[in-house]
Amino acid sequence: MPPALTTRALVKRYGRTTALAGVDLEIAPGELVGLLGPNGAGKSTLTKIVCGIVRSSGGEAKVCGARAGSRSARAAIGYLAELFRFPDWLSAEEVLVLHQRLASSRGGADERRDLLGLVGLTDARRVRVSAMSKGMQQRLGVAQALVGRPRLLLLDEPTSALDPAGRRTVRELLERLREREIAVLLNSHLLSEVELVCDRVAILSHGRLVAAGAMNELTRSRGLEVETSAGVRLIEDVGRAQVPQLVRELVAAGEDVFSVRLVRSTLEEAFLELTGSDAA
Ligand SMILES: Nc1ncnc2c1ncn2[C@@H]1O[C@H](COP(=O)(O)OP(=O)(O)O)[C@@H](O)[C@H]1O
Ligand SMILES: [Mg+2]
Repeated sequence: MPPALTTRALVKRYGRTTALAGVDLEIAPGELVGLLGPNGAGKSTLTKIVCGIVRSSGGEAKVCGARAGSRSARAAIGYLAELFRFPDWLSAEEVLVLHQRLASSRGGADERRDLLGLVGLTDARRVRVSAMSKGMQQRLGVAQALVGRPRLLLLDEPTSALDPAGRRTVRELLERLREREIAVLLNSHLLSEVELVCDRVAILSHGRLVAAGAMNELTRSRGLEVETSAGVRLIEDVGRAQVPQLVRELVAAGEDVFSVRLVRSTLEEAFLELTGSDAA
């Protein structure tokens, strides 16, 4: 199976603004990748190029092996825009009917039932958009993006407008997508979202990828936090392998050891270091 997404040396210029300055990114089938970066970093631009809404200025983007923007690439994609709005007067069910038509999905009522169930809107299928909370609309948005069984789901800031409970629901929904082996590119300027659900994180800053990797690769070990009768202290530059020796030495020195904890820098610290920006 080809990767769900590949970009190579992807460039986008809007007049004098360089939104993407050569981005190489790959997402494996079924992988959940967080694209993290401050506002203006280029996250939405990258997503729109992958969707075929915006044309790149250079480099390439492929979806499941097909050129971004091509018919087969479009068919493999589900997209939820950052600030979407559904027609107020439609019910949840009607929104899905509309999108099935737009996506030429033949899934019919079975697909709608399945998707409404997946996002927890079965009982709200007749509720109009105008009567829905933000969180319900966002879940409907995810259901809409899943119409036609895409292989790659592109979510642009799906939780930024939600309260903590709504965010949590979307996170749980993303976890459920794993079972369906749908690859996800999740754009966010919110670290916690990405930290909690993604397999891998790519950090974008001024149109460049400044880091990419699994969470434990982006965060680094800061040492051991040791609590003894003398108090709590951080011993730097030591890892798990040195713990037994360290404890023996402390005990030999007459200290009572209450706890030893490995401390890693957080993704937030890595983000701040790499982008030099405020991790709102
Ligand atoms: N349609 C556009 N015309 C001109 N400049 C744009 C356009 N869209 C985005 N930009 C600029 O490109 C850069 C990246 O924007 P964007 O991709 O929206 O970043 P993000 O989604 O990470 O906040 C910003 O400097 C933004 O002002
Ligand atoms: Mg954006």
